[in-house]
Amino acid sequence: MSPGVLALLVVIASVAAWAAFMAYTALAPKLRRHDMGVVLPEKEEVLAASKAAPGGPDYVREINVPEPRPRRRGAEDVKDVSRRKLLNRFMGASLLVGLGQFGLASLDFLYPRLRGGFGTKITIGNAEEIRNEIAANRDPKFIPDGRFFVTVFEGDPAEANKIPAYRASNAGATGFVASYRKCVHLGCSVPWCPSAKWFECPCHGSKYSINGEYRDGPAPRSLDQFRTEIVDGQLIVDTSLIIEGAPRGTITSQPQPEGIHCVDVREG
Ligand code: FES
Repeated sequence: MSPGVLALLVVIASVAAWAAFMAYTALAPKLRRHDMGVVLPEKEEVLAASKAAPGGPDYVREINVPEPRPRRRGAEDVKDVSRRKLLNRFMGASLLVGLGQFGLASLDFLYPRLRGGFGTKITIGNAEEIRNEIAANRDPKFIPDGRFFVTVFEGDPAEANKIPAYRASNAGATGFVASYRKCVHLGCSVPWCPSAKWFECPCHGSKYSINGEYRDGPAPRSLDQFRTEIVDGQLIVDTSLIIEGAPRGTITSQPQPEGIHCVDVREG
């Protein structure tokens, strides 16, 4: 169930609760009067039957309770009723306002905010500056908001264009790879190992090259990617769509580690 639908249900339930409360406050006095109307005729019927029965009126003794003097609906009564109504309406209105505020706050909290960040197109900055920055030491640039690493694609762009994952991510055209940092084995965050120049997962030891290609460990494929594009000189990464990483055995760059590993864990 989407957050929007959930919030709508919360609002509907709140309004229904308010309507039930208002209906009860309106009907409760009428229901009480109806109950009294049922009791009185029964008592009169019993008395009439006792007088007609053998033994006469001793059959049932009537307790003479003085009839209450009918009260006149004076100005005080009218004032009381008006005050009660006013209080009821005030309570109902307060409840409605409270529930409305609660519903709006729920909507505001649950509604997805797609203004920047993961799930949207993220502008990283000037493409040439980023290329030079990364090329200086061949370390990827991590973008926390988008949960990905940007690297300069290492290898032949023509070769990249033969591989569906790279075609979809546009790596051959832009010269950039945006690798999702979530390990494709069991979802751990994969950090960069500067000595090996590989991505190395600390959970079970999967390892991926600088292009995010599978090299070692239990991972079933290369790191997933996001599509990159360059618009007006700006590098943009679209994190609304996750592109499944290239299969095991894909090698466009760096088949061997360039230094010591950061992670030695292995499984499977
Ligand atoms: Fe990364 Fe298992 S989660 S290797």
